[in-house]
Amino acid sequence: MTTILVTGGTGTLGRLVAERLRTDGHEVRVLSRHAQPYAVDLIRGGGGLGAAVAGVDTIVHCASTPRGGDEKAAAHLIAAARRAGVGHLVYISIVGVDVVPLGYYKAKYAVERQIEESGLGWTILRTTQFHDLLVQMFEAVGRLPVLPLPAGVSDQPIEVAEVADRLAELALGAPAGRVEDMGGPRARTFPDLARAWLRATGRRRPMLEVPVPGKAYRALRSGGHLTPGNEGGKGTFEDHLAARYGSGSSARG
Ligand SMILES: NC(=O)c1ccc[n+]([C@@H]2O[C@H](COP(=O)([O-])OP(=O)(O)OC[C@H]3O[C@@H](n4cnc5c(N)ncnc54)[C@H](OP(=O)(O)O)[C@@H]3O)[C@@H](O)[C@H]2O)c1
Repeated sequence: MTTILVTGGTGTLGRLVAERLRTDGHEVRVLSRHAQPYAVDLIRGGGGLGAAVAGVDTIVHCASTPRGGDEKAAAHLIAAARRAGVGHLVYISIVGVDVVPLGYYKAKYAVERQIEESGLGWTILRTTQFHDLLVQMFEAVGRLPVLPLPAGVSDQPIEVAEVADRLAELALGAPAGRVEDMGGPRARTFPDLARAWLRATGRRRPMLEVPVPGKAYRALRSGGHLTPGNEGGKGTFEDHLAARYGSGSSARG
């Protein structure tokens, strides 16, 4: 039995990773700002972090926020892991963090560097966007009478359960460094993905493709966040939508 700490183990991905590892019979601790008894704000660090990492073999680091502070959080986690003699730190990153200059991606790329230089055994997996994220985006813009979509951008979304399976597998193995990227079954345009979401939710909306200026969107239009040839995920967006909304659609207007 291995003792594993899952940071962000209450989030979309971390919850599933923790579940998988517990089902496999491992002792799993979950850390987040609100997860008792390991309620720790990694950006602030502090005493509770030492107790959370004491006696831990492996950390799966899923805690993150696009609002800023991931580098600080990683620095606190790495320092605590080194003090506790943790053998393996597994990190989930995003395909394209090195080529798409979005603020959040730059922070995640910096965290990758921190982990590589930490002196700890490490494994980094980069994946594409989870289906859940696309649903959140469509539900947010779906309140508008017209669906605004980023012009010329595709996405290759993946089912989070499959990412959780892979992360759990990596957590139970030896430190592997940067492993092969993992993407969903295929890259699709935003209007194509939006049509699938509209069908599944029984909505009708005109779509408006909006050209977005700037370097980050240029990199997205060039597919810097896609991973052709690494279609490790099998679940499609339609599978995800059917599981979430049911296979029949209800007219919502
Ligand atoms: N979503 C995607 O499409 C996608 C794609 C590829 C990679 N990833 C990566 O996968 C990871 C998990 O993503 P997710 O979508 O599952 O995120 P999520 O649902 O937003 O969960 C984030 C988790 O981090 C915790 N957290 C946030 N700030 C914290 C802090 N300062 N200290 C301690 N815990 C903190 C949250 O719990 P509390 O609120 O209780 O603190 C929560 O458990 C992230 O690293 C993300 O970059 C995501």
